[in-house]
Amino acid sequence: MAFDKKPNKVVVIGTGYVGSSYAFSLINQNITDELVLIDLNKDKTEGDVMDLNHGVPFGAPTKVKAGDYEDCENADLVVITAGANQQPGETRLDLIEKNARIFKSIVENVMKANFDGIFIIATNPVDVLSYATWKYSGLPMERVIGSGTILDTARFRFMLGEYFDLDVRNIHGYIMGEHGDTELPVWSQTRIGSEHIHRFMEKYKPEGTMEELENIFINVRDAAYHIIERKGATHYAIAMGLARLTKAILRNEQSILTVSTLVRGEYGLDNLYIGVPAVVSRRGVERIIEIDLNDLEKQQLEHSAKVLKEAMKPVFE
Ligand code: 2OP
Repeated sequence: MAFDKKPNKVVVIGTGYVGSSYAFSLINQNITDELVLIDLNKDKTEGDVMDLNHGVPFGAPTKVKAGDYEDCENADLVVITAGANQQPGETRLDLIEKNARIFKSIVENVMKANFDGIFIIATNPVDVLSYATWKYSGLPMERVIGSGTILDTARFRFMLGEYFDLDVRNIHGYIMGEHGDTELPVWSQTRIGSEHIHRFMEKYKPEGTMEELENIFINVRDAAYHIIERKGATHYAIAMGLARLTKAILRNEQSILTVSTLVRGEYGLDNLYIGVPAVVSRRGVERIIEIDLNDLEKQQLEHSAKVLKEAMKPVFE
């Protein structure tokens, strides 16, 4: 690190499964100089800090400490993972009222500390809570970013990579919409290498069927339920997705990621946070990328937005 460079500082609020896995990812991937953990459970946070610090000699030179809201003052990023999570059988939207209340007080406390950086939100329902954070904080929309469908897009690419027996880095496609039950796969723009997926299948996997592809999407959409049934929570993959997003911001990468951001006319939608491809840089969300959707995908996206808006009503009206 050059001496004239201000160290990067990330504050994580909520050190449950997701927050602590995210902290672990940051240290392993050398993403931030300073890392502050905040949680109501002080003992757990102190234990996490000790445990993570003892790993620093094996990872990146990160300064890790347990902190308080005052630490947000000069933070570059505040990442909120706090709140109730889904129990088996619960949907993400079922968490809305409980977590919106928790968020009001968290965001107020962060802003009282004169925070002037970028928020990343991961708590569910992530689209609604990102909107809530934007409203409660008064920060410009580009500086409040939800994890949106980054994880769903990763699951989609992973499962297609397995299906075609190919490197996931050669699978290009997006899941858009709510991070939840109404999300949609953008098949019309999904490519393997540079070939459209349907054409690729015709040529290299002629035995494959549309039904199999549709089942892949269903498994993507329902992945969290399958994991929660088995182990009670999901955390590694979302934590790695948050680390990816953090890197895109702190390193000014101009990466296209399917984050949750405020739509203002894009895709014909207005005044809600929803998962769309967007360019992410040191300024936060630079712009939304409007890819061409076919008629079915447009309808599915509109439906997803409608469900989110309905869910938001009790909290914002
Ligand atoms: C997930 O999709 C539960 O939203 C979390 O893994």
